[in-house]
Amino acid sequence: TMRVGILTAGGDSPGLNAAIRGFGKAAIGTHGMELIGFRDGMRGLAENRFIELDSAALSGILTVGGTILGTSRDKVHKMMVDGKPRNMIDTIRKNYEKDELDALVCLGGGGTAKNAKRLSDAGMNVMTLPKTIDNDLVGTDRTFGFATALEIATDAIDRLHSTAHSHHRIILTEIMGHRAGWLALGAGIAGGADVILLPEVPYNVESIAETIKRRRAGGSNFSVIAVAEGARSVADAAELAAAEALVKEADSPEGRDAAKQHRRAVEASHRAHTFALASQLEAATGLESRVSILGYVQRGGIPCGRDRQLATLLGTAGADLVSQGVFGVMVAAKGEQAVPVPLEEVAGRVRYVPTDHPWIRAAKEVNTGFGD
Ligand code: F6P
Repeated sequence: TMRVGILTAGGDSPGLNAAIRGFGKAAIGTHGMELIGFRDGMRGLAENRFIELDSAALSGILTVGGTILGTSRDKVHKMMVDGKPRNMIDTIRKNYEKDELDALVCLGGGGTAKNAKRLSDAGMNVMTLPKTIDNDLVGTDRTFGFATALEIATDAIDRLHSTAHSHHRIILTEIMGHRAGWLALGAGIAGGADVILLPEVPYNVESIAETIKRRRAGGSNFSVIAVAEGARSVADAAELAAAEALVKEADSPEGRDAAKQHRRAVEASHRAHTFALASQLEAATGLESRVSILGYVQRGGIPCGRDRQLATLLGTAGADLVSQGVFGVMVAAKGEQAVPVPLEEVAGRVRYVPTDHPWIRAAKEVNTGFGD
């Protein structure tokens, strides 16, 4: 019998439990494997904290939000132990051997793909399943969690519309998505946002104000703006691009760490941009402006049908691939199929919204402004 470990890492996301269940039922039921679940992502793996997962443990979790295993954002090569960053890869490999594992399945996003690649390079049989509300992983059409977050953000935009309309206000709603704009774009289209601001399309305040004034001239004296958390003005985008160039150009590990720290500081200085933008738009248009940050409600609660279905498809396919000895891959969604994609094609890369994406064209054709 094969013995497999499973864990969830990175930010939580609707559909994680559905994926654990899908993988587990196929692994135990179809393939006769043994399954253990590590607690709290890479941290529990390093500390060898796990529970045995049998069919009973997998029952009744399909619709449950969050992750029954717990999660963390720890990195395997730089884990904080007693206040210091430590490389835990050797410790993890020892645990992997001690637990007599044949494979390790990691449910996560971009950070998890990088950690999984590190473990795979260290000789372990590793696989990932693409989870994130950000939909920003390369190699897969979709990630589970995105569809649910899209529904939540769309519902929020609907509700903000009625209050913006009643008060003749501009309401800016900040939507998650990390460095990519998929969630703001998708929800902005679905909720009919008047302006959508994306990291991929740096904005000009004047251009946004023009869209709002044009709407007012047409009789609509309110506007709802979907702002991706990573969206930036043209000036801020240039500042960030310069900081990113320094990271790429760094020629020593120390230089790289310093450049990364600088980039983080630049990003942090942009963090309140939605509030700054609200006051700029109020001044430019004369309309009262308010901000609503959607935050963690976008990640919580029960997964929608589409995410449960995707998580089950990818989870069960993952177990089939493990039984065939396919490792070092992410199980990706391609059309209706689940296919393995090598981890080196995924790790360390971000899928941004292409500026010629059909969603952007569609939004422009219903008069949505992008502030460009
Ligand atoms: O990746 C999911 C996500 O919610 C992003 O949209 C967001 O940028 C980030 O996680 C927030 O991170 P944390 O959970 O560490 O606050």
